[in-house]
Amino acid sequence: MHSKPIVVTGGAGFIGSHLTDRLLEAGETVIVVDDLSTGSRSNLALAERNPRFHFHACKVSECADLESLVAGASMVVHLAAAVGVERVMRSPIQTIETNLGETEIVLAAASKSRTPVLLASTSEVYGKSSQPEFSEADDLLIGPSTLGRWSYACSKLMDEFLAMAYHRERGVPVRIVRFFNTVGPRQTGAYGMVIPRFVAAARAGDPVRVYGDGLQSRCFCHVADSVEAVIRLMRSAEAVGQVVNVGNDQPVQIRELAERVIHATRSPSPVELVPYASVFGPGFEDMRHRKPSLKLLERLTGFRPRRTLDEILRDLSGS
Ligand SMILES: NC(=O)c1ccc[n+]([C@@H]2O[C@H](COP(=O)([O-])OP(=O)(O)OC[C@H]3O[C@@H](n4cnc5c(N)ncnc54)[C@H](O)[C@@H]3O)[C@@H](O)[C@H]2O)c1
Repeated sequence: MHSKPIVVTGGAGFIGSHLTDRLLEAGETVIVVDDLSTGSRSNLALAERNPRFHFHACKVSECADLESLVAGASMVVHLAAAVGVERVMRSPIQTIETNLGETEIVLAAASKSRTPVLLASTSEVYGKSSQPEFSEADDLLIGPSTLGRWSYACSKLMDEFLAMAYHRERGVPVRIVRFFNTVGPRQTGAYGMVIPRFVAAARAGDPVRVYGDGLQSRCFCHVADSVEAVIRLMRSAEAVGQVVNVGNDQPVQIRELAERVIHATRSPSPVELVPYASVFGPGFEDMRHRKPSLKLLERLTGFRPRRTLDEILRDLSGS
Protein backbone atom coordinates (compact mmCIF):
# COMPACT_ATOMS: atom_id res chain seq x y z
CA MET A 1 0.00 0.00 0.00
CA HIS A 2 2.66 2.60 1.14
CA SER A 3 6.42 2.61 1.56
CA LYS A 4 6.39 4.73 4.74
CA PRO A 5 5.41 3.02 8.02
CA ILE A 6 1.95 3.17 9.54
CA VAL A 7 1.72 4.14 13.21
CA VAL A 8 -0.98 2.26 15.15
CA THR A 9 -1.66 3.62 18.64
CA GLY A 10 -3.33 0.98 20.82
CA GLY A 11 -1.92 -1.67 18.49
CA ALA A 12 -1.47 -4.21 21.31
CA GLY A 13 -5.22 -4.14 21.94
CA PHE A 14 -7.97 -6.26 20.50
CA ILE A 15 -8.77 -4.42 17.23
CA GLY A 16 -5.26 -2.91 16.96
CA SER A 17 -3.44 -6.25 17.03
CA HIS A 18 -5.67 -7.72 14.31
CA LEU A 19 -5.16 -4.58 12.22
CA THR A 20 -1.39 -4.79 12.77
CA ASP A 21 -1.32 -8.43 11.62
CA ARG A 22 -3.30 -7.58 8.48
CA LEU A 23 -1.14 -4.56 7.61
CA LEU A 24 2.06 -6.59 8.03
CA GLU A 25 0.56 -9.32 5.86
CA ALA A 26 -0.11 -6.66 3.20
CA GLY A 27 3.61 -5.75 3.19
CA GLU A 28 3.37 -2.62 5.35
CA THR A 29 5.82 -1.53 8.05
CA VAL A 30 3.94 -1.00 11.33
CA ILE A 31 4.97 0.96 14.42
CA VAL A 32 2.78 0.26 17.44
CA VAL A 33 2.62 2.70 20.37
CA ASP A 34 0.82 1.09 23.31
CA ASP A 35 1.12 1.41 27.10
CA LEU A 36 -0.27 -2.12 27.62
CA SER A 37 -2.94 -0.78 29.99
CA THR A 38 -5.62 -3.05 28.48
CA GLY A 39 -3.64 -4.56 25.59
CA SER A 40 -0.91 -7.18 25.82
CA ARG A 41 2.30 -8.27 24.12
CA SER A 42 0.80 -11.73 23.61
CA ASN A 43 -1.70 -10.20 21.14
CA LEU A 44 1.34 -9.25 19.04
CA ALA A 45 3.02 -12.68 19.13
CA LEU A 46 2.66 -13.10 15.35
CA ALA A 47 3.68 -9.50 14.58
CA GLU A 48 6.80 -9.72 16.78
CA ARG A 49 8.25 -12.28 14.38
CA ASN A 50 8.09 -9.80 11.49
CA PRO A 51 11.12 -7.50 10.86
CA ARG A 52 8.73 -4.78 9.60
CA PHE A 53 7.13 -4.58 13.06
CA HIS A 54 8.28 -2.08 15.71
CA PHE A 55 6.94 -1.62 19.21
CA HIS A 56 7.05 1.36 21.58
CA ALA A 57 5.80 0.42 25.04
CA CYS A 58 4.59 3.79 26.30
CA LYS A 59 1.62 6.09 26.59
CA VAL A 60 1.02 8.18 23.48
CA SER A 61 1.59 11.28 25.63
CA GLU A 62 4.88 9.90 27.00
CA CYS A 63 6.30 8.74 23.67
CA ALA A 64 9.44 10.89 23.36
CA ASP A 65 9.77 10.53 19.58
CA LEU A 66 6.05 10.69 18.72
CA GLU A 67 6.43 13.76 16.50
CA SER A 68 9.17 12.21 14.39
CA LEU A 69 7.36 8.85 14.20
CA VAL A 70 4.22 10.62 12.99
CA ALA A 71 6.14 12.85 10.58
CA GLY A 72 7.73 9.79 8.98
CA ALA A 73 4.48 7.81 8.74
CA SER A 74 2.06 7.46 5.84
CA MET A 75 -0.82 7.38 8.32
CA VAL A 76 -1.62 7.21 12.03
CA VAL A 77 -4.43 4.88 13.10
CA HIS A 78 -5.39 6.14 16.55
CA LEU A 79 -7.07 3.36 18.52
CA ALA A 80 -5.52 4.00 21.97
CA ALA A 81 -8.32 4.84 24.39
CA ALA A 82 -9.89 3.98 27.72
CA VAL A 83 -12.48 1.44 26.59
CA GLY A 84 -15.43 -0.51 27.98
CA VAL A 85 -18.50 0.65 29.90
CA GLU A 86 -17.58 -1.11 33.18
CA ARG A 87 -14.09 0.40 33.14
CA VAL A 88 -15.48 3.81 32.27
CA MET A 89 -17.90 3.63 35.21
CA ARG A 90 -15.02 2.68 37.54
CA SER A 91 -12.49 5.29 36.35
CA PRO A 92 -14.30 8.24 34.81
CA ILE A 93 -11.46 10.77 35.24
CA GLN A 94 -8.95 8.49 33.57
CA THR A 95 -11.42 7.78 30.74
CA ILE A 96 -12.05 11.42 29.95
CA GLU A 97 -8.40 12.43 30.31
CA THR A 98 -7.10 9.56 28.15
CA ASN A 99 -9.68 9.90 25.42
CA LEU A 100 -9.32 13.66 25.10
CA GLY A 101 -5.66 14.21 25.96
CA GLU A 102 -4.07 11.46 23.90
CA THR A 103 -6.14 12.29 20.81
CA GLU A 104 -5.18 15.96 21.05
CA ILE A 105 -1.50 14.96 21.15
CA VAL A 106 -1.85 12.71 18.09
CA LEU A 107 -3.68 15.39 16.09
CA ALA A 108 -1.22 18.12 17.09
CA ALA A 109 1.70 15.92 16.01
CA ALA A 110 -0.04 15.04 12.72
CA SER A 111 -0.78 18.69 11.97
CA LYS A 112 2.95 19.52 11.86
CA SER A 113 3.54 17.04 9.02
CA ARG A 114 -0.05 16.85 7.67
CA THR A 115 0.12 13.10 8.24
CA PRO A 116 -3.31 11.48 7.68
CA VAL A 117 -5.07 10.23 10.83
CA LEU A 118 -7.76 7.56 11.13
CA LEU A 119 -9.50 8.01 14.47
CA ALA A 120 -11.48 5.31 16.28
CA SER A 121 -14.79 6.54 17.64
CA THR A 122 -17.76 4.53 18.84
CA SER A 123 -21.45 3.85 18.27
CA GLU A 124 -21.89 5.06 21.88
CA VAL A 125 -21.97 8.60 20.47
CA TYR A 126 -25.48 7.90 19.10
CA GLY A 127 -26.50 7.80 22.77
CA LYS A 128 -30.17 7.16 23.53
CA SER A 129 -31.37 7.79 20.01
CA SER A 130 -34.28 5.47 19.21
CA GLN A 131 -33.84 5.44 15.44
CA PRO A 132 -34.16 1.91 14.01
CA GLU A 133 -30.85 2.47 12.22
CA PHE A 134 -28.08 4.97 13.05
CA SER A 135 -26.68 7.06 10.19
CA GLU A 136 -23.58 9.20 10.44
CA ALA A 137 -25.42 12.49 9.82
CA ASP A 138 -28.09 11.83 12.49
CA ASP A 139 -28.59 14.09 15.50
CA LEU A 140 -27.11 12.55 18.65
CA LEU A 141 -28.95 12.13 21.97
CA ILE A 142 -26.54 11.94 24.89
CA GLY A 143 -27.75 11.62 28.51
CA PRO A 144 -27.03 14.12 31.30
CA SER A 145 -23.54 14.75 32.73
CA THR A 146 -24.73 13.56 36.16
CA LEU A 147 -24.73 10.02 34.74
CA GLY A 148 -21.09 8.93 34.39
CA ARG A 149 -21.93 6.42 31.67
CA TRP A 150 -22.17 9.18 29.10
CA SER A 151 -18.63 10.43 29.68
CA TYR A 152 -17.22 7.78 27.31
CA ALA A 153 -19.57 8.82 24.49
CA CYS A 154 -18.90 12.51 25.09
CA SER A 155 -15.12 12.07 25.24
CA LYS A 156 -15.19 10.21 21.92
CA LEU A 157 -17.54 12.80 20.42
CA MET A 158 -15.16 15.59 21.45
CA ASP A 159 -12.39 13.57 19.74
CA GLU A 160 -14.50 13.60 16.57
CA PHE A 161 -15.05 17.38 16.79
CA LEU A 162 -11.36 17.94 17.45
CA ALA A 163 -10.35 15.76 14.50
CA MET A 164 -12.78 17.62 12.23
CA ALA A 165 -11.38 20.93 13.50
CA TYR A 166 -7.82 19.84 12.70
CA HIS A 167 -9.04 18.77 9.27
CA ARG A 168 -10.72 22.10 8.49
CA GLU A 169 -8.33 24.48 10.21
CA ARG A 170 -4.95 22.76 9.80
CA GLY A 171 -5.50 20.61 6.72
CA VAL A 172 -4.95 17.25 8.47
CA PRO A 173 -6.55 14.51 6.35
CA VAL A 174 -8.72 12.76 8.97
CA ARG A 175 -11.01 9.78 8.69
CA ILE A 176 -13.30 8.88 11.59
CA VAL A 177 -14.60 5.37 12.18
CA ARG A 178 -17.53 4.74 14.53
CA PHE A 179 -17.09 1.12 15.57
CA PHE A 180 -20.20 -0.76 16.63
CA ASN A 181 -19.74 -3.85 18.86
CA THR A 182 -16.71 -5.65 17.52
CA VAL A 183 -15.92 -9.17 18.68
CA GLY A 184 -13.55 -12.04 18.03
CA PRO A 185 -10.41 -13.75 19.29
CA ARG A 186 -8.16 -11.76 21.71
CA GLN A 187 -11.00 -9.64 23.12
CA THR A 188 -10.93 -9.67 26.89
CA GLY A 189 -14.06 -9.77 29.05
CA ALA A 190 -12.26 -7.99 31.88
CA TYR A 191 -13.69 -4.57 31.01
CA GLY A 192 -17.34 -5.53 30.54
CA MET A 193 -17.42 -6.67 26.90
CA VAL A 194 -20.50 -8.82 26.62
CA ILE A 195 -19.54 -11.80 24.41
CA PRO A 196 -16.20 -12.63 26.11
CA ARG A 197 -17.95 -12.27 29.49
CA PHE A 198 -20.72 -14.68 28.40
CA VAL A 199 -18.24 -17.17 26.90
CA ALA A 200 -16.09 -17.18 30.08
CA ALA A 201 -19.15 -17.71 32.32
CA ALA A 202 -20.55 -20.47 30.09
CA ARG A 203 -17.18 -22.26 29.94
CA ALA A 204 -16.89 -22.10 33.74
CA GLY A 205 -20.47 -23.40 34.15
CA ASP A 206 -21.39 -20.18 36.00
CA PRO A 207 -24.69 -18.34 35.46
CA VAL A 208 -24.56 -16.18 32.32
CA ARG A 209 -25.54 -12.79 33.69
CA VAL A 210 -27.72 -10.70 31.37
CA TYR A 211 -28.22 -7.09 32.44
CA GLY A 212 -31.78 -5.69 32.37
CA ASP A 213 -34.59 -7.68 30.74
CA GLY A 214 -32.33 -9.05 28.01
CA LEU A 215 -34.61 -7.75 25.26
CA GLN A 216 -32.15 -5.00 24.29
CA SER A 217 -30.48 -5.83 20.98
CA ARG A 218 -27.03 -5.29 19.51
CA CYS A 219 -25.28 -6.14 16.25
CA PHE A 220 -21.93 -7.93 16.57
CA CYS A 221 -19.23 -7.60 13.95
CA HIS A 222 -16.37 -10.07 13.55
CA VAL A 223 -13.07 -8.25 14.06
CA ALA A 224 -11.79 -9.57 10.70
CA ASP A 225 -14.65 -7.70 8.99
CA SER A 226 -14.00 -4.52 11.02
CA VAL A 227 -10.32 -4.61 10.08
CA GLU A 228 -11.15 -5.18 6.41
CA ALA A 229 -13.43 -2.12 6.52
CA VAL A 230 -10.74 -0.01 8.23
CA ILE A 231 -8.08 -0.95 5.68
CA ARG A 232 -10.42 -0.09 2.80
CA LEU A 233 -11.24 3.25 4.44
CA MET A 234 -7.51 3.95 4.89
CA ARG A 235 -7.19 3.53 1.12
CA SER A 236 -10.25 5.64 0.25
CA ALA A 237 -9.42 9.25 -0.61
CA GLU A 238 -13.14 10.01 -0.50
CA ALA A 239 -13.27 8.97 3.18
CA VAL A 240 -11.15 11.98 4.20
CA GLY A 241 -13.21 14.39 6.31
CA GLN A 242 -15.96 11.78 6.81
CA VAL A 243 -17.40 9.88 9.76
CA VAL A 244 -18.16 6.28 8.85
CA ASN A 245 -20.03 3.53 10.73
CA VAL A 246 -18.21 0.20 10.85
CA GLY A 247 -20.15 -2.78 12.16
CA ASN A 248 -22.55 -5.54 11.35
CA ASP A 249 -26.26 -4.78 10.86
CA GLN A 250 -27.82 -8.10 11.97
CA PRO A 251 -29.30 -7.55 15.47
CA VAL A 252 -29.64 -10.12 18.22
CA GLN A 253 -31.37 -9.70 21.60
CA ILE A 254 -28.94 -10.09 24.49
CA ARG A 255 -30.95 -12.84 26.20
CA GLU A 256 -30.98 -14.82 22.97
CA LEU A 257 -27.25 -14.15 22.63
CA ALA A 258 -26.68 -15.67 26.10
CA GLU A 259 -28.64 -18.76 25.08
CA ARG A 260 -26.69 -19.11 21.83
CA VAL A 261 -23.37 -18.81 23.70
CA ILE A 262 -24.50 -21.51 26.14
CA HIS A 263 -25.49 -23.72 23.21
CA ALA A 264 -22.25 -23.08 21.28
CA THR A 265 -20.10 -23.93 24.31
CA ARG A 266 -22.31 -26.94 25.24
CA SER A 267 -22.54 -25.46 28.73
CA PRO A 268 -25.00 -26.36 31.52
CA SER A 269 -25.05 -22.70 32.67
CA PRO A 270 -28.39 -20.99 33.35
CA VAL A 271 -29.20 -17.45 32.17
CA GLU A 272 -29.59 -15.01 35.05
CA LEU A 273 -31.26 -11.61 34.59
CA VAL A 274 -29.52 -8.94 36.68
CA PRO A 275 -30.89 -5.39 37.17
CA TYR A 276 -28.62 -2.71 35.69
CA ALA A 277 -28.63 -0.83 39.02
CA SER A 278 -27.01 -3.73 40.88
CA VAL A 279 -24.07 -3.67 38.44
CA PHE A 280 -23.67 -0.02 37.53
CA GLY A 281 -25.44 1.81 40.38
CA PRO A 282 -28.72 3.74 40.31
CA GLY A 283 -29.78 5.69 37.24
CA PHE A 284 -27.78 3.67 34.69
CA GLU A 285 -29.18 4.13 31.20
CA ASP A 286 -28.74 1.71 28.32
CA MET A 287 -29.95 1.78 24.72
CA ARG A 288 -32.63 -0.66 23.63
CA HIS A 289 -31.29 -1.12 20.13
CA ARG A 290 -28.19 -0.15 18.24
CA LYS A 291 -27.92 -0.90 14.57
CA PRO A 292 -25.69 0.87 12.06
CA SER A 293 -26.60 2.07 8.62
CA LEU A 294 -23.80 0.72 6.43
CA LYS A 295 -24.72 2.69 3.31
CA LEU A 296 -21.80 5.10 3.57
CA LEU A 297 -19.27 2.35 4.32
CA GLU A 298 -20.50 0.40 1.32
CA ARG A 299 -20.46 3.42 -0.96
CA LEU A 300 -16.89 4.36 0.04
CA THR A 301 -15.39 0.87 0.10
CA GLY A 302 -17.70 -1.51 -1.80
CA PHE A 303 -17.62 -3.66 1.36
CA ARG A 304 -20.01 -4.59 4.14
CA PRO A 305 -19.35 -6.99 7.03
CA ARG A 306 -20.90 -10.39 6.33
CA ARG A 307 -19.62 -12.83 8.95
CA THR A 308 -22.57 -14.13 11.00
CA LEU A 309 -23.01 -14.45 14.74
CA ASP A 310 -22.74 -18.24 14.35
CA GLU A 311 -19.32 -17.82 12.72
CA ILE A 312 -18.27 -15.47 15.52
CA LEU A 313 -19.41 -17.89 18.23
CA ARG A 314 -17.73 -20.81 16.44
CA ASP A 315 -14.46 -18.84 16.43
CA LEU A 316 -14.74 -18.00 20.12
CA SER A 317 -16.01 -21.27 21.51
CA GLY A 318 -13.73 -23.45 19.42
CA SER A 319 -16.76 -25.60 18.48
N1 LIG B 1 -14.19 -3.27 20.51
C1 LIG B 1 -15.28 -2.59 20.28
O1 LIG B 1 -16.38 -3.14 20.20
C2 LIG B 1 -15.22 -1.09 20.08
C3 LIG B 1 -16.45 -0.43 19.88
C4 LIG B 1 -16.42 0.95 19.70
C5 LIG B 1 -15.22 1.62 19.68
N2 LIG B 1 -14.05 0.96 19.87
C6 LIG B 1 -12.82 1.75 19.84
O2 LIG B 1 -11.81 1.06 19.13
C7 LIG B 1 -10.53 1.31 19.73
C8 LIG B 1 -9.85 0.00 20.06
O3 LIG B 1 -10.67 -0.72 20.99
P1 LIG B 1 -10.37 -2.22 21.44
O4 LIG B 1 -11.67 -2.90 21.60
O5 LIG B 1 -9.33 -2.81 20.60
O6 LIG B 1 -9.85 -1.94 22.92
P2 LIG B 1 -8.49 -2.38 23.65
O7 LIG B 1 -8.62 -1.94 25.07
O8 LIG B 1 -8.21 -3.82 23.39
O9 LIG B 1 -7.43 -1.49 22.88
C9 LIG B 1 -7.02 -0.22 23.31
C10 LIG B 1 -5.50 -0.24 23.35
O10 LIG B 1 -5.03 1.07 23.67
C11 LIG B 1 -3.99 0.95 24.64
N3 LIG B 1 -3.96 2.23 25.34
C12 LIG B 1 -4.88 2.76 26.17
N4 LIG B 1 -4.49 3.99 26.57
C13 LIG B 1 -3.30 4.24 25.97
C14 LIG B 1 -2.41 5.36 25.96
N5 LIG B 1 -2.68 6.45 26.67
N6 LIG B 1 -1.28 5.28 25.22
C15 LIG B 1 -0.99 4.16 24.50
N7 LIG B 1 -1.80 3.08 24.46
C16 LIG B 1 -2.95 3.13 25.18
C17 LIG B 1 -4.37 -0.25 25.49
O11 LIG B 1 -3.28 -0.82 26.17
C18 LIG B 1 -4.94 -1.18 24.42
O12 LIG B 1 -3.93 -2.01 23.87
C19 LIG B 1 -10.79 2.21 20.93
O13 LIG B 1 -10.54 3.55 20.57
C20 LIG B 1 -12.27 2.00 21.22
O14 LIG B 1 -12.85 3.13 21.82
C21 LIG B 1 -14.02 -0.39 20.07
